[in-house]
Amino acid sequence: MDIVCTDKEALIFQQIGKAAASLNMPCYLIGGFVRDKIIGRATKDIDIVCIGDGITLAHKVAESFHPKPYVSFFKNFGTAQIKIEDLEIEFVGARKESYAQNSRKPEVAPGTIEDDQNRRDFTINAMAISLNDHDYGSLIDPFNGIQAIQEKKIITPLEPSQTFSDDPLRMMRAIRFAAQLNYTIVPETLAAISSNVHRISIVSQERITDELNKIMLCEKPSVGWDLLFKTGLLHKIFPQMVDLHGAEYIDGLGHKDNFYHTLQVLDNMAASTDDLWLRWAALLHDIGKPATKRFEEGHGFTFHGHEVVGARMVPKIFTKLKLPLNEKMKQVQKLVLLHLRPISLTKENITDSAVRRLLFDAGEDIDALMMLCSADITSKNKHKVKRYLQNFELVKERLLEVEDADRIRNWQPPITGEMIMATFGLTPGRQVGIIKDAIREAILDGLIPNEYEAARKFMLEKGRELNLEAVE
Ligand code: CTP
Repeated sequence: MDIVCTDKEALIFQQIGKAAASLNMPCYLIGGFVRDKIIGRATKDIDIVCIGDGITLAHKVAESFHPKPYVSFFKNFGTAQIKIEDLEIEFVGARKESYAQNSRKPEVAPGTIEDDQNRRDFTINAMAISLNDHDYGSLIDPFNGIQAIQEKKIITPLEPSQTFSDDPLRMMRAIRFAAQLNYTIVPETLAAISSNVHRISIVSQERITDELNKIMLCEKPSVGWDLLFKTGLLHKIFPQMVDLHGAEYIDGLGHKDNFYHTLQVLDNMAASTDDLWLRWAALLHDIGKPATKRFEEGHGFTFHGHEVVGARMVPKIFTKLKLPLNEKMKQVQKLVLLHLRPISLTKENITDSAVRRLLFDAGEDIDALMMLCSADITSKNKHKVKRYLQNFELVKERLLEVEDADRIRNWQPPITGEMIMATFGLTPGRQVGIIKDAIREAILDGLIPNEYEAARKFMLEKGRELNLEAVE
């Protein structure tokens, strides 16, 4: 099989082949590296399977390099790893496996290359290339993975229910590969996912979320989320998303299907940015809608306050999914909370104070917020979309003008809490907060200019209203 390797890779494979021959140990390239090379995708992870002990082979290979790379190994799993420049090479002995009913941890016994290929997840991942003298470079493809690549299909090598029941993480992997590669999961394999969804409960949340993040980073993440929904996996791993599904009509008044709307927003966002967290913000922007849905007689469905409820759900969802509870979560939360604001500006006369307030509330995230808002325009009515986008451009211009004049983004009012306390001889407390907020609001509303002198004068007035006396 001709695969296109770099000179460096070709040299490394020859050295591995030689080391294995000196140990009398047949060895093969296998799995994702072979798949990605055939597809033409970039790949840095190389898996080597040998008939014998992978750790012994890794040490032998390491000795043939100068300087000798460090060999890290796990005796329990019989795996070893070396790193050569940016390539990670993993060695393992071929094995046959059987799985216990309630565990992803297989019982392993040494096996042949065929045994090893049998136990792999998909036919595209079960191809091997020989590194042995007599047939160096030949492809060993017992399940016709090549054809699956040509036909863009995800198929399991064995009976699919067995493959998924053995290791339920593979259900997530099937969907992730379909989304990443734009392949179709064949009907039998897809049906086996649906009938094994309950098995996902034995997979750790970290592994599930790894796959979700990989789906998120696809060109069209909606493909993966839709498959998760249609197979029923989503119901198990992220039921709040499922609650978004469905359109309802009462007296001829309806609302759109918020699940598919969300997926469209996510794809729009993915077309604008590779940032994982902005994509999560798109996925979660309407997550508060099911909890806030009401029907108002003669008017239709409303989702008042869904942005506030949604923002409150974000930390809970991040906790459940074991996503990091850090600044990124806060950014997602803020974007969910503010996602209606730029659009509501387009509906009213855009005053300077409304623009200043939006800039102040969004701060550093104003560009991300604007991106989310334009991604959120998904109407099927082309004229409506055009009108929205035009208004939206207007808001953008106004944001630039006001920011240029007032520098509100990352702004702090010219009078701090300490200054207020020093002026009136106060200790930290409610009155300090009242004066501080009043100064900030007055500047944002344009009642006073964004300057120290004006703010100090305003502070003294506020103090008088509260019967406070200036001590300095
Ligand atoms: N594999 C498997 N079942 C799993 C995980 C992996 O059968 N649950 C096998 C597949 O043959 C896979 C190989 O182990 O190709 C290597 O796995 P891994 O490095 O996790 O994935 P890749 O297929 O290389 O793809 P990616 O790096 O995109 O996850």
